[in-house]
Amino acid sequence: MPNKEMLLIPGPTPVVDEIYEALASETRAHTDPRFVEIFKNGLKLTREMFNTDGEVFVFGGSGTLAMEMAIVNTVAPGEKLLVISHGYFGDRFIQLAKAFGIEVETVQSEWGKHVDPAEVEAKLAAGGFKAVTVTHVDTSTGVMSNLEVLVPIVKKAGALFILDGVCATAAVEENMGKEYGHPDYKIDVVLTGSQKAIGVPPGLGIVAFSPKALAARESMAKIPAYYCDIYNWLPIMQNPGKYYATPPVNMLYAYEQGMKIVMAEGLEKRYQRHAALGKAVRTALAVYGMKALADEEVAAPTLSCILYPEGIDDAAFRKALAEKGMIVAGALASLAGKAFRIGHMGNVTEEMFIKAITLVGETLKEMNYQADVEAAVAEFKKVYQGQ
Ligand SMILES: Cc1ncc(COP(=O)(O)O)c(C=O)c1O
Repeated sequence: MPNKEMLLIPGPTPVVDEIYEALASETRAHTDPRFVEIFKNGLKLTREMFNTDGEVFVFGGSGTLAMEMAIVNTVAPGEKLLVISHGYFGDRFIQLAKAFGIEVETVQSEWGKHVDPAEVEAKLAAGGFKAVTVTHVDTSTGVMSNLEVLVPIVKKAGALFILDGVCATAAVEENMGKEYGHPDYKIDVVLTGSQKAIGVPPGLGIVAFSPKALAARESMAKIPAYYCDIYNWLPIMQNPGKYYATPPVNMLYAYEQGMKIVMAEGLEKRYQRHAALGKAVRTALAVYGMKALADEEVAAPTLSCILYPEGIDDAAFRKALAEKGMIVAGALASLAGKAFRIGHMGNVTEEMFIKAITLVGETLKEMNYQADVEAAVAEFKKVYQGQ
């Protein structure tokens, strides 16, 4: 089932044939040993990707449900959560936590910039924070958080480090075994979804809990959740032949295939490919006078929020690209109409982006804006192949 369009939004991302084929395999009983083996392997590969000796949970739902699972199993109503936000999706944790009666404080950055680490330290100095949320890549701005800086600050304060990897997992390192400057300074929870850099259609939530995060759940007798309570899922993740709630069988076929592709490419190679691709896309678009909202030092490998030059109408630009078979997304909140967002993650290829850079240039020219397509494509290849 070849894709008819280039889906270059910040997720879902293009799905390759092997994954479509897995998705279209015969639906079997969720207790059928042939399905159970596939589910088990998907979980095994997920544990390997996150390098965790805790537990991973893969279930029917979207990234938002994964956010909820991460929070309700670690922070009790009335306890304190610090939200570090680089944009729209960072802010989502504020509403989510408030819905469960959690006390929320925030450190927010200007959109396109990093938060000030001194501000995070000052907030945490007040004490009593059970956990801190960090959005690895905020899909609204294309800013990637600096884990080397933030993990030690949070862990020094004794809080759990919860990472939203929805727009980063499988494209940027999220290694839960990694020590950030001290044996105890590690990521405690990573949550994500199937539809971005893993390259599988939307429909699965994925959460990894470290032993410390599992202990946080254990310390709470009861939590305000049922579907999201990891205690209901633990027996299933340890033995996927058991039943708690019917797993999305075909999505799990697709997921296992997606994880096989991720691990066969190799994590290091995949991370390098994404870093090179993000930089190459931004460098090429800059040839057209299209600047990324985020400076290169904080820009994400997975997606970019690109500001329009004077005189380019957002809706007309995206419509013209869509007519050529290339789909990009509009910008959010105060950036709506002023920028567009282009995803460059998952199982995408160099050829796709040579075409994408060409189509953007041609569309700009149709809109009476000068664009040197050859120079932009040459710049793309130079940066992409040079890494
Ligand atoms: C960083 C981030 N977190 C959370 C979400 C929410 O995920 P979902 O839309 O799958 O519920 C998104 C969605 O784009 C996201 O980009």
